[in-house]
Amino acid sequence: MTTSRLTHALATGALALPEGPIVVFGAPAGFDLSALPKPQVTIVSHFAPDVARWQVAGFDVSREAPKAACALVVLPRAKDAARALIAAAVEAAPLVLVDGQKHDGIDSILKAVKARTTPGAVISKSHGKLFWISGGDFSDWASRPHTVDGFTTRPGVFSADGPDKGSLALVDALPPLKGRVADLGAGWGFLARHILRSDAVTQLDLIEADAVALDCARENVTDPRAAFHWADATAFAAAAPYDVVVSNPPFHVGRAGDPGLGRDFIAAAQRLLSPHGSFWMVANRHLPYEDALTAAFHHVEEAGGTPGFKVIHATRPHRTRR
Ligand SMILES: C[S@@+](CC[C@H](N)C(=O)[O-])C[C@H]1O[C@@H](n2cnc3c(N)ncnc32)[C@H](O)[C@@H]1O
Repeated sequence: MTTSRLTHALATGALALPEGPIVVFGAPAGFDLSALPKPQVTIVSHFAPDVARWQVAGFDVSREAPKAACALVVLPRAKDAARALIAAAVEAAPLVLVDGQKHDGIDSILKAVKARTTPGAVISKSHGKLFWISGGDFSDWASRPHTVDGFTTRPGVFSADGPDKGSLALVDALPPLKGRVADLGAGWGFLARHILRSDAVTQLDLIEADAVALDCARENVTDPRAAFHWADATAFAAAAPYDVVVSNPPFHVGRAGDPGLGRDFIAAAQRLLSPHGSFWMVANRHLPYEDALTAAFHHVEEAGGTPGFKVIHATRPHRTRR
């Protein structure tokens, strides 16, 4: 458990926190921060469900990092995203703690950090490491936009290296759409740009939890019919019901696979659609969504796909209380 490293470092006196504000990067909701004095902590998060949960837990949360006396980076798995968080932390605070699991790449990050500065100490415990640094030049690790196939992405967003195979399968199967459309979990706008090729689409709401991905989508989708919503799709309230909902739903919560999130997206589509609306989604073939789909819609059919992905078309949602 990663926090035990921080607790251990503080309890043994190996580490003393300086007086003043502490800024935390990369901590998923529920990550144990009990070793830190809550009133001094600001959590930097751009993921809407995490922001809501941290706020309920009584933490100050910000999208931008304030200047602080100390920063903690909880290492994400994506290497570029990990480097970008360390660069942001070094920019924000003179003392930077980096905590991560072996399977998230803490050893290779530590090696890369050591090429630039000497860590104050390294604590190895519970299949991971905690180390801390003061200074060093990490400016070239900062988050920068990346252009791929004519789209802008950034480190850490879903499928940052190019269109996802599932999304490609979905656009192959999707007919031209019409009316009011929503894209649940719109990412950096790959599906959205395709959907807007149909002149019969009158409005497209891109609903996405990751504010960094949504900022990329704003650059990638400049059509005036598009509207951008930084929100948890599973709790999103629309101004009016949609004619069509499209989604390549997420199946990860933090680092763990969780088809429950996809099922929540199916329930959201059911809730957000008009009685004659239709839902298009793509999923890995092994993900068990059939029961959730038949519970939510009168009619469900497979409408294309690839050996790895199924494209589902579901129509006539069962009525729900809105
Ligand atoms: C599989 S990706 C699809 C992205 C995009 N539609 C595409 O085709 O490239 C799922 C997206 O859902 C977003 N997401 C995860 N949980 C979410 C939630 N609760 N509400 C809204 N979006 C969420 C992720 O950040 C990610 O961008």
